[in-house]
Amino acid sequence: MLTIERVTKVFGANTAVDSVSIGVDRPMMIGIIGRSGAGKSTLLRMVNRLTDATDGAILFEGRDVTALRGAEMRRWQSDCAMIFQQFNLVPRMDVVSNVLHGTLNRRSTLATVFNLFPSEDIHRAIEILERLGIAEQAPKRAEALSGGQQQRVAIARALMQDPRIILADEPIASLDPMNAQIVMDALCRIHEEDGRMVICNLHTLDTARRYCDRVIGMRDGRVVFDGTPGQLTTGAARDIYGAGADFSEAATSTEIGALDRGGAGTSGIREAGASV
Ligand SMILES: Nc1ncnc2c1ncn2[C@@H]1O[C@H](COP(=O)(O)OP(=O)(O)OP(=O)(O)O)[C@@H](O)[C@H]1O
Ligand SMILES: [Mg+2]
Repeated sequence: MLTIERVTKVFGANTAVDSVSIGVDRPMMIGIIGRSGAGKSTLLRMVNRLTDATDGAILFEGRDVTALRGAEMRRWQSDCAMIFQQFNLVPRMDVVSNVLHGTLNRRSTLATVFNLFPSEDIHRAIEILERLGIAEQAPKRAEALSGGQQQRVAIARALMQDPRIILADEPIASLDPMNAQIVMDALCRIHEEDGRMVICNLHTLDTARRYCDRVIGMRDGRVVFDGTPGQLTTGAARDIYGAGADFSEAATSTEIGALDRGGAGTSGIREAGASV
């Protein structure tokens, strides 16, 4: 379905993504983990064509999306909607208009300038907001919502595009644990109920383990782990994050860290249920 073939991205002297190959044969829920600077965002941005690969190919259902130009590229970009850590909503605009912006790719400039939306699109936007449990927020300005609500608006905007893939770059990194859970649950439901592929950059191991059916570990631009959450042992996590102090800092979540601080063992990750 999605094939990433020896994809490389070079920034000056720095190779951010180094010959990465990943094959996905069905719509999975994939978590990408790794230390800061490992190349996770750059990889997602290349899939969405926000940035161009230096080398390699990205094929979706056999078509090389790195070669698309103009309208075809924009169509691909709406087929793989992107969600960001900072939500990227228009703060002063109401929620439903923010969601309707997910249809911009297929609207005329004139309609866009006058903020004219077909009534069927407005109905669909409300339906999607209902599905995400935030329909009552529709008339409010985006900036008046909590972080978790804003991220659900961003997910609703993505769903307006009816995407085949949702690419989420650290979607819960700015949220408290409860809102993080609500947002991850929403992404899981979209994956399970709609059959959409979700690829999520995550910075905690336990989130990847809990929500994803496949975990990809990146280190220094390369894929160093690709397997099921069950295969992600403490040893594998150490390979991804590197040994030493950095490991526990980068890899453990608040929840696992609390276990560790409580003296439950030498490795908080082991305590969280890794099969080692
Ligand atoms: N636009 C850019 N120009 C130059 N270098 C960049 C650019 N974007 C990313 N890089 C570099 O590429 C490498 C990978 O960055 P990237 O943002 O993909 O990492 P990441 O895994 O997403 O990290 P984080 O967990 O901090 O978000 C880093 O060394 C970064 O400094
Ligand atoms: Mg990143």
